[in-house]
Amino acid sequence: MSHADDHEGTRRDFLYYATAGAGAVTAGAAIWPLVNQMNPSADVQALSSIRVDVSGVEPGTQLTVKWRGKPVFIRRRTPDEIEAARAVDVSSLPDPEARNENVAAGAPATDANRSLAPEGAEGDAAEEWLVMMGVCTHLGCVPLGNASGDFGGWFCPCHGSHYDTAGRIRKGPAPRNLPVPVARFEGETEIVLG
Ligand code: FES
Repeated sequence: MSHADDHEGTRRDFLYYATAGAGAVTAGAAIWPLVNQMNPSADVQALSSIRVDVSGVEPGTQLTVKWRGKPVFIRRRTPDEIEAARAVDVSSLPDPEARNENVAAGAPATDANRSLAPEGAEGDAAEEWLVMMGVCTHLGCVPLGNASGDFGGWFCPCHGSHYDTAGRIRKGPAPRNLPVPVARFEGETEIVLG
């Protein structure tokens, strides 16, 4: 799917289509330089914040969007993934800090401090969503998703870093958990990044 030739839509539509769905990262990489040349200031403004419709994301699947030139993983976790993440003793983690820009600096890396809750969500529903930069904290590769690695989360094949179902580093050379960017839900199905 390519939207490179779609000149009809608004700028927001363009960004939305360029960033939503599988394969979008590749399309975005090809399109971005052209946008930059056309209107740098508008580009910077638009990229500072994007909205992502997650209504089609089923439990156990992940959406990757491109934001500020980097991949962002948006995963809707299964009850088992949430449970596995909750069961971990935070003090045993290589990086015990949440690394979440939406909570206080230095907050512990509990599952609740790593996940993003839709408006009004409670219980498991409040910890279903995980939004993280898809950039390995070792040397910057993009980890593989879809419950990969020894801890059922993400695996970076570059040098063998394993992240768990809350995106926390568990094994390998990466020093920190995958960072959670500034993000919020608006309603139950729209996530605003930035
Ligand atoms: S860049 Fe991911 S393990 Fe080295």
